[in-house]
Amino acid sequence: MVLRLGLIGHPISHSLSPWIHNEFLKIANIQGEYKLYHGKPEELSDVLKHLREIEIDGFNVTVPYKQTIMDYIDELDPEAEQLGAVNTVVNENGKWKGYSTDGEGYVRSIQRPFPQLLNRDTSILLLGAGGAARGIYRALMKEQLKQVDIANRSIEKAKLFLNMQLGNSKSAVLSYNEAEKQLMNYDLIIQTTSVGMKPAVDEQIISLENVKKDAVVSDIVYQPITTALHQEALSRGAKIHHGHAMLLYQAQLAFEKWTGIDIDAEHLVEKLENQLRG
Ligand code: ATR
Repeated sequence: MVLRLGLIGHPISHSLSPWIHNEFLKIANIQGEYKLYHGKPEELSDVLKHLREIEIDGFNVTVPYKQTIMDYIDELDPEAEQLGAVNTVVNENGKWKGYSTDGEGYVRSIQRPFPQLLNRDTSILLLGAGGAARGIYRALMKEQLKQVDIANRSIEKAKLFLNMQLGNSKSAVLSYNEAEKQLMNYDLIIQTTSVGMKPAVDEQIISLENVKKDAVVSDIVYQPITTALHQEALSRGAKIHHGHAMLLYQAQLAFEKWTGIDIDAEHLVEKLENQLRG
């Protein structure tokens, strides 16, 4: 039997998910396929009808359908429900169940290269308060950490974000200006907005003038692979963590939900980087 997997979203023609899942299928020695199911918003219900008909085993969901998909599935994992977003659907005996693996994927991607980083002494600064930040924040709240603060352009949005989250006693809201001044307090800085993404590659959300030497600067933007923020981090002696690692690990968790197989993905980070370079 061939395992049938895929991705819905728009646009997705440049997606790296087929490459990633084909690597996983090879490693797991499973016969399967991972196809792109394109669909503009007005075509979404037809695309999903087709996926029901072919009895797809599982699929990923990306922009712009991470919220919309919730109206089409049979059951929601409580985490995905609280987050209000789904990126992975599993066909469980004919019932579609929705999960979100983005936040936990991020945490895994950090844990593998920096195993000592997430502990009770660690202070983290999240830059941004959108959907991506919410998933990462929720996943970080499951770790034993000293502090997870949030800096955002709109302070109101960041406060609203915190009011909706669990564990917010460990968190403060900062402006980008304040964050820049207090940067030496953080061991991990996570950039979660789209600022710095191609084509405006030289945009940077904050200056890293006050970053600690041994801090890790993480940017979830993966095109370009090394962002302007990464470059400044390196020039100031900090370590960097790339966005494509998160992409890989959210996929690894999705694959685990579909197959029960926990792929050792760390060696694929570099291979994925080569794919991105084309
Ligand atoms: P996503 O789901 O990708 O996180 P989103 O929910 O629209 O997208 O959130 C976008 C985030 O990027 C927000 O934190 C937003 O800041 P505001 O809440 O202040 O709008 C941030 N963002 C986007 N473009 C930005 C820019 N040019 N400068 C600063 N922040 C920006």
